[in-house]
Amino acid sequence: MSHDLFLAAKAAMANAYAPYSKFPVGAAIRTTDGRVFSGCNIEVASYPEGWCAETTALGHYIMGGGGEIAEIAVVAERMARITPCGACRQRLAEFAGADAKLHLCDDAGVVETVTMGAMLPYGFEGGILK
Ligand code: THU
Repeated sequence: MSHDLFLAAKAAMANAYAPYSKFPVGAAIRTTDGRVFSGCNIEVASYPEGWCAETTALGHYIMGGGGEIAEIAVVAERMARITPCGACRQRLAEFAGADAKLHLCDDAGVVETVTMGAMLPYGFEGGILK
């Protein structure tokens, strides 16, 4: 089942706009009701203004109605088992619970599956702000 989410992330990676780093990344999010949202990294000549594949996928997820996240897949063309950057861990944790699965992939498929809770232990939680 996770293989099709990997394929969605890989397809998204084909759209990456990464002329500066030449490091294409793809991400895909599946909700518990089966919807899939994907994204690629998008870079900008003013380098800090670019953003990650996970962030693009989250934008699609929100625009598609949001909901409970079951699993997330991330893949990079040039890295065997990419892990989301710190900022994206925090962004993903805003919407994905500690039990949501995070599939770390290489070019062929899922290499390792961890939970969001394991990926961002002791993360800042914004409940008190609401
Ligand atoms: N990148 C992602 O898209 N996701 C990550 O989790 C790590 C890094 C992108 C950002 C930038 O476009 C390129 O990879 C090199 O850092």
